[in-house]
Amino acid sequence: MSGEGLIAEPRAVHASVGHARLKELMHRGTEFLGCKVAILGGAMSWVSERSLVSAISNAGGFGVIACGAMSPELLDTEIAETKARTDRPFGVNLITMHPQLSELIDTCAKHHVGHVVLAGGLPPGGAIDRIRRYPLAELRIARRIGYEVEANWKVILENYNECYHCGGVHPELCKVVPAFKQKGGMDLDWERGVPHREGAWTFTMSGTTNRKPFAGLNEDEQTRHKGELLYPNFMLSLSAEHAAAFTLWPTSPSHTTILCDFLFHPSEIAQSDFNPNDAVEFWDITNRQDWVICESVQRGMASRVFRQGFYAPMESMSLDIRRYIRERLE
Ligand SMILES: [Fe+2]
Repeated sequence: MSGEGLIAEPRAVHASVGHARLKELMHRGTEFLGCKVAILGGAMSWVSERSLVSAISNAGGFGVIACGAMSPELLDTEIAETKARTDRPFGVNLITMHPQLSELIDTCAKHHVGHVVLAGGLPPGGAIDRIRRYPLAELRIARRIGYEVEANWKVILENYNECYHCGGVHPELCKVVPAFKQKGGMDLDWERGVPHREGAWTFTMSGTTNRKPFAGLNEDEQTRHKGELLYPNFMLSLSAEHAAAFTLWPTSPSHTTILCDFLFHPSEIAQSDFNPNDAVEFWDITNRQDWVICESVQRGMASRVFRQGFYAPMESMSLDIRRYIRERLE
């Protein structure tokens, strides 16, 4: 029985436009998925595992493993066990906010998983274009710092997206990027990346390092810094030779666990004198300065007299966060 066979019986509706369209779509679905029936099993955490996925695929559909919070090792086992139960195609669902997304993708590639379904949102097209030359899939985590911050996760996102606090809060950062303290950071060109001071080109105390810039960056990217907020909970800061990736895990309305990963190219990690501390120390100081003011905002919002805050016109990026949240609450 094929996908076409399911709907191609000579019934009265056979010639209808809708029926023909459905047949066409079903055919496209089976072609795309490589299964007999274009029905894809939605990935459900803790439910869509080896037994259900292999049963769906064996029945002619397309099963999808829900990776959820699995480690790359657990996913490796789950894929292997699923393959032991079916020789039909199946896919894997990955959550884009998973801190080891890159390793999970590698695991899927190792098993030649034909289809990876991404959940938790895709970066907007503009963001993809801005960061596409950075070899993110190749980078590896060399250091991780966990922070416990007494602030709502949206406060932390808004803090990441506005720059007028930088002049007063981040003296070390402003030494490397003086533009952060000029006009409250209003004129920063995030499309091209923000410029460092003369002679500086990365986020370390000195503004330089012995690590090489990533291959393939354009001229701007070799000397400027880029930052992207990827909804709902991922902040990505890109220097020419390292990335700082922040994943926010809200644990209550007033508390957020933040995992800050420092990623470098394997060719640099392999160097005998590799030492990520110049970047890590710079970020750690800057991060802690941010968390202090986020916690201060949180305390202010907890005041009995607090009713609401106001966005200044320059806070359009923060307004976007508010719109993003509201669309999902309505
Ligand atoms: Fe900051």
